[in-house]
Amino acid sequence: MLEIKKIIGQAVAEVVSAIKPDAGLDAKTVESMLEYPPDAKMGDLALPCFKLSKLLRSAPVKIASELSAKLTLDVVSRVEAVNGYLNIFLNGSELAERVIPQVISKGSRYGAPDLGEGKTVVLDYSSPNLAKPFHIGHLGTTVIGHSLKKLHEFAGYRCVGINYVGDWGTQFGKLIVAYKKWGDRETVEQGGVDALVDLYVRINNAISGNEEKGIPADPALADEARAEFLKMEQGDKENLTLWKWLVEMSLKANEEIYRQLGITFDSYRGESYYTDKMPAQVQKLRDTNLLKLDDGASIVDLEAYGMPPCLILKRDGSSLYPTRDIAAAVDRKETYGFDKAIYVTSAGQSLHFAQWFKVVELMGYDWADQLVHVPYGTVSINGAKLATRTGNVILLRDLFGLAIDKVAAIMEEKNPELADKDKIAEAVGVGAIVFYYLSNNRIRDINFIMEDALSFDGNTGPYVQYTYARTCSVLAKSGSYDRKGALSVTAQEEVDLIKTISRFEETVLEAIDSYEPSVITRYILDLAGVYNRFYHNCSILGAENEAVKQTRLILTDAAKTVLGNAFDLICLAKTEKI
Ligand code: ARG
Repeated sequence: MLEIKKIIGQAVAEVVSAIKPDAGLDAKTVESMLEYPPDAKMGDLALPCFKLSKLLRSAPVKIASELSAKLTLDVVSRVEAVNGYLNIFLNGSELAERVIPQVISKGSRYGAPDLGEGKTVVLDYSSPNLAKPFHIGHLGTTVIGHSLKKLHEFAGYRCVGINYVGDWGTQFGKLIVAYKKWGDRETVEQGGVDALVDLYVRINNAISGNEEKGIPADPALADEARAEFLKMEQGDKENLTLWKWLVEMSLKANEEIYRQLGITFDSYRGESYYTDKMPAQVQKLRDTNLLKLDDGASIVDLEAYGMPPCLILKRDGSSLYPTRDIAAAVDRKETYGFDKAIYVTSAGQSLHFAQWFKVVELMGYDWADQLVHVPYGTVSINGAKLATRTGNVILLRDLFGLAIDKVAAIMEEKNPELADKDKIAEAVGVGAIVFYYLSNNRIRDINFIMEDALSFDGNTGPYVQYTYARTCSVLAKSGSYDRKGALSVTAQEEVDLIKTISRFEETVLEAIDSYEPSVITRYILDLAGVYNRFYHNCSILGAENEAVKQTRLILTDAAKTVLGNAFDLICLAKTEKI
Protein backbone atom coordinates (compact mmCIF):
# COMPACT_ATOMS: atom_id res chain seq x y z
CA MET A 1 0.00 0.00 0.00
CA LEU A 2 3.00 2.28 0.44
CA GLU A 3 3.42 2.36 -3.32
CA ILE A 4 -0.27 3.14 -3.85
CA LYS A 5 -0.11 5.87 -1.23
CA LYS A 6 2.84 7.32 -3.09
CA ILE A 7 0.92 7.37 -6.36
CA ILE A 8 -2.08 9.00 -4.72
CA GLY A 9 0.10 11.48 -2.85
CA GLN A 10 1.72 12.50 -6.10
CA ALA A 11 -1.59 12.90 -7.90
CA VAL A 12 -3.22 14.90 -5.11
CA ALA A 13 -0.19 17.16 -4.88
CA GLU A 14 -0.45 17.80 -8.60
CA VAL A 15 -4.15 18.58 -8.44
CA VAL A 16 -3.54 20.93 -5.54
CA SER A 17 -0.80 22.79 -7.34
CA ALA A 18 -3.10 23.19 -10.32
CA ILE A 19 -5.74 24.72 -8.04
CA LYS A 20 -3.27 26.83 -6.08
CA PRO A 21 0.18 27.03 -7.68
CA ASP A 22 1.89 28.60 -4.69
CA ALA A 23 0.61 26.05 -2.15
CA GLY A 24 3.95 24.20 -2.11
CA LEU A 25 2.33 20.94 -1.03
CA ASP A 26 4.56 17.96 -1.69
CA ALA A 27 3.56 14.38 -2.39
CA LYS A 28 5.19 13.05 0.78
CA THR A 29 3.07 15.29 3.00
CA VAL A 30 -0.12 14.11 1.35
CA GLU A 31 1.05 10.53 1.64
CA SER A 32 1.48 10.88 5.37
CA MET A 33 -2.02 12.33 5.69
CA LEU A 34 -3.74 9.32 4.14
CA GLU A 35 -5.69 7.20 6.59
CA TYR A 36 -7.37 3.84 6.63
CA PRO A 37 -11.09 4.47 7.15
CA PRO A 38 -12.68 2.50 9.97
CA ASP A 39 -15.32 1.12 7.63
CA ALA A 40 -14.94 -0.21 4.08
CA LYS A 41 -17.99 1.85 3.07
CA MET A 42 -15.82 4.92 3.50
CA GLY A 43 -13.27 3.69 1.00
CA ASP A 44 -9.93 1.94 1.16
CA LEU A 45 -8.02 5.10 1.90
CA ALA A 46 -9.18 8.55 2.94
CA LEU A 47 -7.71 12.00 2.94
CA PRO A 48 -8.96 14.17 5.81
CA CYS A 49 -9.13 17.50 4.02
CA PHE A 50 -9.21 19.61 7.16
CA LYS A 51 -5.48 18.96 7.23
CA LEU A 52 -5.22 20.99 4.04
CA SER A 53 -7.64 23.76 4.85
CA LYS A 54 -5.10 26.10 6.41
CA LEU A 55 -2.72 25.74 3.53
CA LEU A 56 -5.39 26.17 0.86
CA ARG A 57 -7.42 28.69 2.85
CA SER A 58 -10.55 26.85 2.05
CA ALA A 59 -13.15 24.74 3.84
CA PRO A 60 -12.49 20.98 4.05
CA VAL A 61 -15.84 20.20 2.38
CA LYS A 62 -14.91 22.36 -0.58
CA ILE A 63 -11.42 20.90 -0.87
CA ALA A 64 -12.79 17.38 -0.79
CA SER A 65 -15.29 18.10 -3.51
CA GLU A 66 -12.72 19.84 -5.73
CA LEU A 67 -10.28 16.99 -5.36
CA SER A 68 -12.95 14.38 -6.02
CA ALA A 69 -13.77 16.05 -9.31
CA LYS A 70 -10.19 16.13 -10.51
CA LEU A 71 -8.52 12.98 -9.24
CA THR A 72 -8.29 10.27 -11.87
CA LEU A 73 -5.93 7.33 -11.54
CA ASP A 74 -5.73 3.74 -12.76
CA VAL A 75 -5.47 2.38 -9.25
CA VAL A 76 -8.51 4.32 -8.09
CA SER A 77 -11.93 3.04 -9.10
CA ARG A 78 -13.83 5.98 -7.63
CA VAL A 79 -13.63 8.78 -5.09
CA GLU A 80 -16.28 10.35 -2.91
CA ALA A 81 -16.29 13.60 -1.01
CA VAL A 82 -18.02 13.04 2.32
CA ASN A 83 -17.99 15.50 5.21
CA GLY A 84 -14.64 16.96 4.32
CA TYR A 85 -13.04 13.60 3.67
CA LEU A 86 -11.89 12.43 0.29
CA ASN A 87 -12.79 8.75 0.33
CA ILE A 88 -10.78 6.72 -2.12
CA PHE A 89 -11.88 3.33 -3.46
CA LEU A 90 -9.17 1.28 -5.08
CA ASN A 91 -9.42 -0.76 -8.23
CA GLY A 92 -9.04 -4.40 -7.16
CA SER A 93 -7.45 -5.65 -10.39
CA GLU A 94 -4.94 -2.82 -10.52
CA LEU A 95 -4.10 -3.37 -6.88
CA ALA A 96 -3.65 -7.09 -7.47
CA GLU A 97 -1.27 -6.46 -10.36
CA ARG A 98 0.83 -4.14 -8.28
CA VAL A 99 0.94 -6.20 -5.11
CA ILE A 100 0.75 -9.93 -5.77
CA PRO A 101 3.61 -10.38 -8.29
CA GLN A 102 5.84 -8.58 -5.80
CA VAL A 103 4.92 -10.98 -3.02
CA ILE A 104 5.64 -13.94 -5.27
CA SER A 105 8.96 -12.61 -6.49
CA LYS A 106 10.25 -11.23 -3.21
CA GLY A 107 9.10 -14.20 -1.13
CA SER A 108 10.67 -14.18 2.32
CA ARG A 109 11.82 -10.57 1.74
CA TYR A 110 8.35 -9.27 0.92
CA GLY A 111 7.45 -6.45 3.26
CA ALA A 112 11.05 -5.77 4.28
CA PRO A 113 11.61 -2.04 4.66
CA ASP A 114 14.87 -0.60 3.52
CA LEU A 115 15.93 1.14 6.70
CA GLY A 116 19.00 -0.31 8.22
CA GLU A 117 21.61 -0.85 5.58
CA GLY A 118 25.05 -0.25 6.98
CA LYS A 119 23.67 0.30 10.48
CA THR A 120 24.14 -1.84 13.56
CA VAL A 121 21.69 -2.48 16.36
CA VAL A 122 22.70 -4.18 19.57
CA LEU A 123 19.87 -5.77 21.52
CA ASP A 124 20.18 -6.72 25.17
CA TYR A 125 17.36 -9.08 26.04
CA SER A 126 16.31 -12.15 27.99
CA SER A 127 19.34 -11.67 30.29
CA PRO A 128 18.04 -13.78 33.17
CA ASN A 129 19.85 -13.92 36.47
CA LEU A 130 21.50 -17.28 36.56
CA ALA A 131 21.23 -19.57 39.55
CA LYS A 132 17.66 -18.35 39.88
CA PRO A 133 14.65 -19.99 38.29
CA PHE A 134 13.95 -18.97 34.68
CA HIS A 135 10.37 -18.05 35.29
CA ILE A 136 7.46 -16.59 33.40
CA GLY A 137 8.54 -13.03 34.22
CA HIS A 138 11.35 -13.53 31.68
CA LEU A 139 8.97 -14.37 28.89
CA GLY A 140 8.49 -10.69 28.02
CA THR A 141 12.11 -9.69 27.61
CA THR A 142 12.86 -12.91 25.76
CA VAL A 143 10.14 -12.81 23.13
CA ILE A 144 9.82 -9.03 22.78
CA GLY A 145 13.60 -8.76 22.53
CA HIS A 146 13.93 -11.47 19.94
CA SER A 147 11.04 -10.12 17.96
CA LEU A 148 12.65 -6.66 17.89
CA LYS A 149 15.82 -8.31 16.67
CA LYS A 150 13.95 -10.08 13.89
CA LEU A 151 12.18 -6.87 12.91
CA HIS A 152 15.43 -4.95 12.69
CA GLU A 153 17.14 -7.74 10.79
CA PHE A 154 14.25 -7.81 8.38
CA ALA A 155 14.73 -4.09 7.82
CA GLY A 156 18.37 -4.63 6.91
CA TYR A 157 20.17 -3.72 10.13
CA ARG A 158 23.11 -5.77 11.29
CA CYS A 159 21.88 -7.05 14.65
CA VAL A 160 23.75 -8.34 17.64
CA GLY A 161 21.61 -10.16 20.19
CA ILE A 162 23.20 -10.17 23.61
CA ASN A 163 22.11 -12.34 26.48
CA TYR A 164 23.53 -10.27 29.32
CA VAL A 165 23.12 -13.05 31.82
CA GLY A 166 23.21 -12.19 35.50
CA ASP A 167 26.17 -14.46 36.18
CA TRP A 168 27.59 -12.47 39.09
CA GLY A 169 26.04 -11.34 42.34
CA THR A 170 24.92 -12.36 45.77
CA GLN A 171 22.52 -14.96 44.42
CA PHE A 172 25.62 -17.09 43.83
CA GLY A 173 26.66 -16.55 47.42
CA LYS A 174 23.25 -17.85 48.48
CA LEU A 175 23.42 -20.82 46.21
CA ILE A 176 26.90 -21.70 47.40
CA VAL A 177 25.74 -21.60 51.03
CA ALA A 178 22.74 -23.76 50.18
CA TYR A 179 24.83 -26.19 48.19
CA LYS A 180 27.42 -26.56 50.91
CA LYS A 181 24.72 -27.08 53.51
CA TRP A 182 22.20 -29.27 51.75
CA GLY A 183 23.46 -30.21 48.32
CA ASP A 184 25.83 -32.70 46.80
CA ARG A 185 27.29 -32.96 43.38
CA GLU A 186 25.41 -36.04 42.33
CA THR A 187 21.95 -34.78 43.22
CA VAL A 188 22.53 -31.50 41.49
CA GLU A 189 24.02 -33.06 38.41
CA GLN A 190 21.13 -35.46 38.09
CA GLY A 191 18.43 -33.03 39.10
CA GLY A 192 19.79 -30.23 36.92
CA VAL A 193 17.98 -26.97 37.13
CA ASP A 194 15.27 -28.43 39.37
CA ALA A 195 17.85 -29.21 41.98
CA LEU A 196 19.22 -25.68 41.71
CA VAL A 197 15.78 -24.15 42.01
CA ASP A 198 15.10 -26.29 45.06
CA LEU A 199 18.28 -25.06 46.68
CA TYR A 200 17.59 -21.47 45.76
CA VAL A 201 14.04 -21.56 47.08
CA ARG A 202 15.16 -23.34 50.22
CA ILE A 203 17.83 -20.80 51.10
CA ASN A 204 15.46 -17.89 50.50
CA ASN A 205 12.84 -19.47 52.70
CA ALA A 206 15.46 -20.07 55.33
CA ILE A 207 16.73 -16.50 55.26
CA SER A 208 13.38 -14.76 55.45
CA GLY A 209 11.40 -17.54 57.08
CA ASN A 210 8.18 -19.01 55.83
CA GLU A 211 5.27 -18.91 58.24
CA GLU A 212 3.12 -21.30 56.26
CA LYS A 213 5.81 -23.93 56.31
CA GLY A 214 6.81 -23.19 59.89
CA ILE A 215 10.33 -22.14 58.94
CA PRO A 216 11.79 -19.46 61.26
CA ALA A 217 13.74 -16.59 59.69
CA ASP A 218 17.51 -16.96 59.90
CA PRO A 219 19.07 -13.68 58.73
CA ALA A 220 22.56 -14.93 59.61
CA LEU A 221 22.37 -17.05 56.48
CA ALA A 222 22.21 -13.86 54.43
CA ASP A 223 25.50 -12.78 55.98
CA GLU A 224 27.00 -16.14 55.14
CA ALA A 225 25.84 -15.74 51.56
CA ARG A 226 27.40 -12.29 51.35
CA ALA A 227 30.63 -13.68 52.73
CA GLU A 228 30.69 -16.47 50.13
CA PHE A 229 30.11 -13.93 47.39
CA LEU A 230 32.86 -11.71 48.75
CA LYS A 231 35.18 -14.70 48.58
CA MET A 232 34.23 -15.07 44.92
CA GLU A 233 35.02 -11.44 44.31
CA GLN A 234 38.38 -11.87 45.97
CA GLY A 235 39.24 -14.76 43.68
CA ASP A 236 38.71 -17.71 46.02
CA LYS A 237 39.48 -20.77 43.89
CA GLU A 238 37.01 -23.16 45.44
CA ASN A 239 34.09 -20.79 45.15
CA LEU A 240 34.99 -19.75 41.62
CA THR A 241 35.09 -23.37 40.52
CA LEU A 242 31.68 -23.92 42.07
CA TRP A 243 30.44 -20.73 40.45
CA LYS A 244 31.59 -21.81 37.00
CA TRP A 245 29.82 -25.10 37.39
CA LEU A 246 26.59 -23.47 38.57
CA VAL A 247 26.68 -21.01 35.67
CA GLU A 248 27.16 -23.80 33.16
CA MET A 249 24.28 -25.78 34.62
CA SER A 250 21.95 -22.80 34.52
CA LEU A 251 22.91 -21.91 30.98
CA LYS A 252 22.33 -25.45 29.86
CA ALA A 253 18.87 -25.50 31.39
CA ASN A 254 17.93 -22.21 29.73
CA GLU A 255 19.12 -23.50 26.36
CA GLU A 256 16.13 -25.81 26.18
CA ILE A 257 13.74 -22.87 26.47
CA TYR A 258 15.58 -20.98 23.75
CA ARG A 259 15.51 -24.03 21.51
CA GLN A 260 11.74 -24.33 21.94
CA LEU A 261 11.36 -20.70 21.01
CA GLY A 262 13.80 -20.92 18.12
CA ILE A 263 15.99 -18.26 19.69
CA THR A 264 19.76 -18.01 19.49
CA PHE A 265 22.06 -15.26 20.72
CA ASP A 266 25.16 -13.75 19.22
CA SER A 267 26.80 -13.11 22.57
CA TYR A 268 26.53 -14.42 26.09
CA ARG A 269 28.76 -11.83 27.68
CA GLY A 270 27.15 -11.58 31.07
CA GLU A 271 27.66 -9.33 34.05
CA SER A 272 30.85 -11.05 35.17
CA TYR A 273 32.56 -10.13 31.91
CA TYR A 274 32.45 -6.44 32.78
CA THR A 275 34.03 -6.62 36.21
CA ASP A 276 37.42 -5.42 35.03
CA LYS A 277 35.88 -2.82 32.71
CA MET A 278 34.24 -0.85 35.50
CA PRO A 279 37.20 0.88 37.16
CA ALA A 280 38.02 2.89 34.00
CA GLN A 281 34.48 4.27 33.90
CA VAL A 282 34.51 5.04 37.62
CA GLN A 283 37.74 6.92 37.03
CA LYS A 284 36.18 8.85 34.18
CA LEU A 285 33.26 9.78 36.43
CA ARG A 286 35.75 11.04 38.95
CA ASP A 287 37.75 12.95 36.36
CA THR A 288 34.65 14.68 35.09
CA ASN A 289 33.69 15.64 38.64
CA LEU A 290 30.43 13.77 38.43
CA LEU A 291 31.08 11.50 41.37
CA LYS A 292 29.90 12.75 44.78
CA LEU A 293 30.33 11.12 48.16
CA ASP A 294 27.11 10.49 49.96
CA ASP A 295 27.32 8.84 53.34
CA GLY A 296 30.37 6.92 52.18
CA ALA A 297 28.84 5.77 48.92
CA SER A 298 29.71 7.27 45.52
CA ILE A 299 26.82 8.63 43.55
CA VAL A 300 25.97 10.84 40.59
CA ASP A 301 23.52 13.52 41.62
CA LEU A 302 20.60 13.66 39.20
CA GLU A 303 18.38 16.04 41.08
CA ALA A 304 18.58 18.58 38.27
CA TYR A 305 16.93 15.98 36.04
CA GLY A 306 14.19 15.07 38.45
CA MET A 307 15.65 11.71 39.36
CA PRO A 308 17.12 10.18 42.50
CA PRO A 309 20.92 9.79 42.49
CA CYS A 310 22.53 7.05 40.45
CA LEU A 311 24.52 4.77 42.76
CA ILE A 312 27.97 3.97 41.43
CA LEU A 313 29.93 2.50 44.33
CA LYS A 314 28.71 1.12 47.63
CA ARG A 315 30.28 2.20 50.88
CA ASP A 316 32.59 -0.79 50.79
CA GLY A 317 33.73 0.23 47.29
CA SER A 318 31.90 -2.57 45.48
CA SER A 319 30.16 -1.70 42.27
CA LEU A 320 26.49 -1.71 41.48
CA TYR A 321 24.07 -2.60 38.71
CA PRO A 322 24.27 0.82 36.98
CA THR A 323 28.08 0.83 37.09
CA ARG A 324 28.17 -2.44 35.23
CA ASP A 325 25.64 -1.26 32.67
CA ILE A 326 27.68 1.85 31.97
CA ALA A 327 30.85 -0.18 31.51
CA ALA A 328 29.01 -2.66 29.29
CA ALA A 329 27.57 0.08 27.09
CA VAL A 330 30.97 1.67 26.54
CA ASP A 331 32.43 -1.73 25.72
CA ARG A 332 29.63 -2.55 23.29
CA LYS A 333 30.05 0.79 21.56
CA GLU A 334 33.73 0.01 21.08
CA THR A 335 33.15 -3.58 20.04
CA TYR A 336 30.20 -3.18 17.71
CA GLY A 337 30.04 0.52 16.86
CA PHE A 338 26.27 0.41 17.27
CA ASP A 339 23.88 2.99 15.88
CA LYS A 340 21.29 1.93 18.39
CA ALA A 341 21.43 -0.13 21.59
CA ILE A 342 18.11 -1.55 22.74
CA TYR A 343 17.47 -2.88 26.25
CA VAL A 344 14.33 -4.86 26.91
CA THR A 345 13.34 -5.23 30.57
CA SER A 346 10.31 -5.02 32.79
CA ALA A 347 8.97 -1.52 33.42
CA GLY A 348 10.16 -1.92 37.00
CA GLN A 349 13.65 -1.08 35.72
CA SER A 350 12.67 2.08 33.83
CA LEU A 351 14.19 4.40 36.42
CA HIS A 352 17.43 2.45 36.43
CA PHE A 353 17.78 2.90 32.67
CA ALA A 354 16.74 6.56 32.69
CA GLN A 355 19.37 7.18 35.36
CA TRP A 356 22.34 5.53 33.79
CA PHE A 357 21.45 6.77 30.30
CA LYS A 358 21.61 10.27 31.79
CA VAL A 359 24.93 9.52 33.46
CA VAL A 360 26.38 8.32 30.14
CA GLU A 361 25.23 11.59 28.57
CA LEU A 362 26.78 13.64 31.38
CA MET A 363 30.03 11.73 30.96
CA GLY A 364 30.16 13.28 27.52
CA TYR A 365 29.57 10.17 25.41
CA ASP A 366 27.95 11.57 22.30
CA TRP A 367 26.15 8.31 21.62
CA ALA A 368 23.99 8.52 24.75
CA ASP A 369 20.97 9.31 22.59
CA GLN A 370 21.38 5.98 20.82
CA LEU A 371 20.44 4.08 23.97
CA VAL A 372 16.84 2.91 24.04
CA HIS A 373 14.99 1.27 26.89
CA VAL A 374 11.98 -0.83 25.90
CA PRO A 375 9.89 -1.62 28.99
CA TYR A 376 7.04 -4.08 29.38
CA GLY A 377 4.37 -4.82 31.97
CA THR A 378 3.96 -7.58 34.53
CA VAL A 379 2.71 -11.10 33.89
CA SER A 380 0.46 -13.15 36.07
CA ILE A 381 -1.28 -16.46 35.53
CA ASN A 382 -5.00 -16.54 36.11
CA GLY A 383 -4.50 -13.72 38.58
CA ALA A 384 -1.58 -15.08 40.59
CA LYS A 385 1.43 -12.76 40.70
CA LEU A 386 4.67 -14.58 40.16
CA ALA A 387 7.47 -14.38 42.67
CA THR A 388 10.92 -15.88 42.31
CA ARG A 389 12.02 -15.73 45.88
CA THR A 390 9.52 -18.15 47.28
CA GLY A 391 8.44 -21.58 46.21
CA ASN A 392 5.62 -19.95 44.29
CA VAL A 393 7.41 -19.78 40.97
CA ILE A 394 6.05 -20.72 37.63
CA LEU A 395 8.93 -21.84 35.51
CA LEU A 396 8.79 -21.03 31.85
CA ARG A 397 9.65 -24.63 31.17
CA ASP A 398 6.59 -25.82 33.10
CA LEU A 399 4.34 -23.30 31.39
CA PHE A 400 5.54 -24.49 27.99
CA GLY A 401 5.23 -28.11 29.09
CA LEU A 402 1.65 -27.60 30.18
CA ALA A 403 0.74 -25.89 26.92
CA ILE A 404 2.39 -28.62 24.86
CA ASP A 405 0.55 -31.37 26.75
CA LYS A 406 -2.80 -29.68 26.31
CA VAL A 407 -2.24 -29.09 22.62
CA ALA A 408 -1.14 -32.69 22.18
CA ALA A 409 -4.42 -33.82 23.75
CA ILE A 410 -6.47 -31.56 21.48
CA MET A 411 -4.60 -32.78 18.41
CA GLU A 412 -5.03 -36.38 19.40
CA GLU A 413 -8.75 -35.77 19.19
CA LYS A 414 -8.79 -33.61 16.09
CA ASN A 415 -6.25 -35.31 13.93
CA PRO A 416 -5.00 -38.63 15.35
CA GLU A 417 -3.37 -39.65 12.05
CA LEU A 418 -0.96 -36.73 12.01
CA ALA A 419 2.72 -37.59 11.57
CA ASP A 420 5.35 -35.89 13.73
CA LYS A 421 2.80 -35.15 16.42
CA ASP A 422 5.29 -34.33 19.16
CA LYS A 423 7.10 -31.76 17.10
CA ILE A 424 3.88 -30.09 16.03
CA ALA A 425 2.46 -30.09 19.54
CA GLU A 426 5.60 -28.34 20.71
CA ALA A 427 5.43 -25.72 17.95
CA VAL A 428 1.75 -25.04 18.60
CA GLY A 429 1.93 -25.20 22.40
CA VAL A 430 4.88 -22.83 22.66
CA GLY A 431 3.46 -20.72 19.83
CA ALA A 432 0.19 -20.34 21.75
CA ILE A 433 2.01 -18.86 24.72
CA VAL A 434 4.14 -16.55 22.60
CA PHE A 435 1.23 -15.35 20.53
CA TYR A 436 -1.01 -14.74 23.51
CA TYR A 437 1.74 -12.84 25.23
CA LEU A 438 2.55 -10.71 22.20
CA SER A 439 -1.10 -9.92 21.49
CA ASN A 440 -1.03 -7.20 24.10
CA ASN A 441 0.65 -3.86 23.95
CA ARG A 442 3.88 -4.60 25.72
CA ILE A 443 3.43 -2.04 28.46
CA ARG A 444 0.14 -3.50 29.64
CA ASP A 445 0.11 -5.92 32.55
CA ILE A 446 -1.23 -9.22 31.42
CA ASN A 447 -2.96 -12.10 33.04
CA PHE A 448 -2.49 -15.44 31.38
CA ILE A 449 -5.58 -17.52 30.95
CA MET A 450 -4.41 -20.82 29.58
CA GLU A 451 -7.71 -21.91 28.06
CA ASP A 452 -7.88 -18.66 26.09
CA ALA A 453 -4.32 -18.93 24.88
CA LEU A 454 -4.76 -22.51 23.69
CA SER A 455 -8.14 -22.25 22.03
CA PHE A 456 -8.16 -23.14 18.33
CA ASP A 457 -11.10 -20.81 17.69
CA GLY A 458 -10.22 -17.50 19.28
CA ASN A 459 -7.67 -14.90 18.26
CA THR A 460 -4.88 -17.25 19.19
CA GLY A 461 -1.63 -18.79 18.09
CA PRO A 462 -3.22 -22.14 17.28
CA TYR A 463 -5.83 -20.37 15.15
CA VAL A 464 -3.27 -18.47 13.04
CA GLN A 465 -0.95 -21.46 12.79
CA TYR A 466 -3.93 -23.49 11.68
CA THR A 467 -4.64 -20.88 9.02
CA TYR A 468 -1.05 -21.11 7.84
CA ALA A 469 -1.36 -24.90 7.64
CA ARG A 470 -4.57 -24.39 5.67
CA THR A 471 -2.77 -22.35 3.00
CA CYS A 472 -0.15 -25.10 2.80
CA SER A 473 -2.73 -27.81 2.40
CA VAL A 474 -4.63 -25.90 -0.32
CA LEU A 475 -1.39 -25.52 -2.28
CA ALA A 476 -0.40 -29.13 -1.69
CA LYS A 477 -3.72 -30.30 -3.14
CA SER A 478 -3.68 -27.91 -6.07
CA GLY A 479 -1.30 -29.65 -8.40
CA SER A 480 0.83 -27.32 -10.45
CA TYR A 481 -0.09 -23.73 -11.19
CA ASP A 482 1.75 -20.81 -12.68
CA ARG A 483 2.88 -18.67 -9.76
CA LYS A 484 3.53 -15.78 -12.07
CA GLY A 485 0.35 -16.26 -14.07
CA ALA A 486 -2.25 -13.60 -14.86
CA LEU A 487 -4.68 -12.53 -12.17
CA SER A 488 -8.40 -12.39 -12.60
CA VAL A 489 -9.95 -10.75 -9.57
CA THR A 490 -13.69 -11.34 -9.30
CA ALA A 491 -14.71 -11.35 -5.64
CA GLN A 492 -14.68 -8.75 -2.88
CA GLU A 493 -13.04 -11.28 -0.54
CA GLU A 494 -10.11 -11.41 -2.91
CA VAL A 495 -9.74 -7.65 -2.91
CA ASP A 496 -9.90 -7.57 0.88
CA LEU A 497 -7.15 -10.18 1.07
CA ILE A 498 -4.94 -8.26 -1.36
CA LYS A 499 -5.49 -5.01 0.54
CA THR A 500 -4.45 -6.60 3.81
CA ILE A 501 -1.40 -8.20 2.21
CA SER A 502 -0.39 -4.84 0.76
CA ARG A 503 -0.34 -3.27 4.22
CA PHE A 504 2.39 -5.56 5.49
CA GLU A 505 5.41 -3.33 4.93
CA GLU A 506 3.93 -0.33 6.69
CA THR A 507 2.92 -2.61 9.53
CA VAL A 508 6.53 -3.68 9.89
CA LEU A 509 7.61 -0.04 9.88
CA GLU A 510 5.10 0.81 12.58
CA ALA A 511 6.25 -2.13 14.72
CA ILE A 512 9.88 -1.01 14.45
CA ASP A 513 9.05 2.59 15.06
CA SER A 514 7.12 1.85 18.24
CA TYR A 515 9.22 -1.14 19.37
CA GLU A 516 5.95 -3.02 19.48
CA PRO A 517 5.72 -6.63 18.27
CA SER A 518 1.98 -6.62 19.04
CA VAL A 519 1.51 -4.57 15.88
CA ILE A 520 2.61 -7.67 13.95
CA THR A 521 0.45 -9.98 16.05
CA ARG A 522 -2.64 -7.90 15.32
CA TYR A 523 -1.76 -7.80 11.65
CA ILE A 524 -1.46 -11.59 11.59
CA LEU A 525 -4.98 -11.84 13.03
CA ASP A 526 -6.29 -9.47 10.34
CA LEU A 527 -4.60 -11.41 7.60
CA ALA A 528 -5.75 -14.77 8.95
CA GLY A 529 -9.28 -13.35 9.21
CA VAL A 530 -9.45 -12.12 5.60
CA TYR A 531 -7.83 -15.30 4.32
CA ASN A 532 -10.33 -17.47 6.13
CA ARG A 533 -13.26 -15.41 4.83
CA PHE A 534 -11.85 -15.75 1.33
CA TYR A 535 -11.36 -19.49 1.86
CA HIS A 536 -14.90 -20.05 3.10
CA ASN A 537 -16.69 -17.85 0.58
CA CYS A 538 -14.67 -18.38 -2.58
CA SER A 539 -14.24 -21.87 -3.91
CA ILE A 540 -10.58 -22.34 -4.77
CA LEU A 541 -10.04 -25.77 -6.26
CA GLY A 542 -13.63 -25.87 -7.49
CA ALA A 543 -13.59 -22.33 -8.95
CA GLU A 544 -15.84 -21.58 -11.92
CA ASN A 545 -12.98 -21.48 -14.41
CA GLU A 546 -9.26 -22.03 -14.71
CA ALA A 547 -8.34 -18.32 -14.60
CA VAL A 548 -10.20 -17.80 -11.34
CA LYS A 549 -8.74 -20.97 -9.87
CA GLN A 550 -5.22 -19.86 -10.81
CA THR A 551 -5.82 -16.48 -9.25
CA ARG A 552 -7.05 -17.98 -6.01
CA LEU A 553 -4.09 -20.31 -5.81
CA ILE A 554 -1.71 -17.42 -6.35
CA LEU A 555 -3.53 -15.45 -3.67
CA THR A 556 -3.24 -18.40 -1.31
CA ASP A 557 0.44 -18.61 -2.13
CA ALA A 558 0.86 -14.90 -1.37
CA ALA A 559 -1.12 -15.18 1.88
CA LYS A 560 1.09 -18.08 2.94
CA THR A 561 4.23 -16.09 2.20
CA VAL A 562 3.13 -13.03 4.12
CA LEU A 563 1.77 -15.00 7.08
CA GLY A 564 5.07 -16.87 7.18
CA ASN A 565 7.11 -13.67 7.03
CA ALA A 566 5.05 -12.22 9.85
CA PHE A 567 5.36 -15.41 11.94
CA ASP A 568 9.13 -15.22 11.60
CA LEU A 569 9.05 -11.75 13.10
CA ILE A 570 7.41 -12.88 16.32
CA CYS A 571 9.08 -16.26 17.00
CA LEU A 572 6.05 -18.22 15.83
CA ALA A 573 6.75 -21.52 14.08
CA LYS A 574 5.41 -21.98 10.56
CA THR A 575 3.43 -25.17 10.93
CA GLU A 576 2.70 -26.80 7.58
CA LYS A 577 0.38 -29.33 9.11
CA ILE A 578 -1.65 -29.34 12.29
N1 ARG B 1 19.53 -9.58 34.77
C1 ARG B 1 18.58 -8.53 34.89
C2 ARG B 1 17.31 -9.05 35.56
O1 ARG B 1 17.00 -10.22 35.44
C3 ARG B 1 18.18 -7.92 33.58
C4 ARG B 1 19.32 -7.31 32.83
C5 ARG B 1 18.84 -6.35 31.80
N2 ARG B 1 19.87 -5.78 31.03
C6 ARG B 1 20.73 -4.84 31.46
N3 ARG B 1 21.66 -4.44 30.64
N4 ARG B 1 20.59 -4.29 32.64
O2 ARG B 1 16.61 -8.28 36.17
